[in-house]
Amino acid sequence: MHHDCERILLTQEQIENRVQEIADRLNADYAGKTPLVVGILKGSIVFYGDLIRKLDIPVELDFMAVSSYGSGTVSSGMLKMKKDLDRDIKGRDVIIVEDIIDSGYTLAKLKKILYERQPASVKIVVLLDKFERRVVAIEPDYSCFDIEDEFVIGYGLDYDEKYRNLPYIGILKPEVYSK
Ligand code: IMP
Ligand code: MG
Repeated sequence: MHHDCERILLTQEQIENRVQEIADRLNADYAGKTPLVVGILKGSIVFYGDLIRKLDIPVELDFMAVSSYGSGTVSSGMLKMKKDLDRDIKGRDVIIVEDIIDSGYTLAKLKKILYERQPASVKIVVLLDKFERRVVAIEPDYSCFDIEDEFVIGYGLDYDEKYRNLPYIGILKPEVYSK
């Protein structure tokens, strides 16, 4: 375990099993369709890579990059779009893949931006849901794990751009972000 981790919250095996369950549901729910799977950079990349390899429906891939956090641990409520989609989504079934929903600002704004482009549907898949922290009324359509209000790292999630490559999800030691 990384020395900045207080403890491991979710092991590689727990994550793998749960991602398979969510993929099974997507395979059933999108049977006969070709959804556009939109990864929100950068936090979702590891989850995204694992999830799409478990999908056996045809999919197309695209990415958006947004930021709301800066280097702190509390959402600012401001969303900056750094990279837009390459593809037109009009009439498409869009699946947004995000690492974590916290206040809900990021996904609420993203959903609004995408809906204005007249897709056939927009659904949200998240790896983690910090449900206690929600400020905006928005719920993911598919969620792998509900978690408590603790700052987590690994499996794509960062603190100040670090730890994304850890293969498990760990709780960051508070002294790392309070100093
Ligand atoms: P929201 O807009 O408050 O829902 O925040 C969503 C974004 O906050 C996610 O995409 C993450 O980048 C970031 N975030 C929220 N909680 C955590 C955490 O515990 N670890 C790492 N990033 C987090
Ligand atoms: Mg992030």
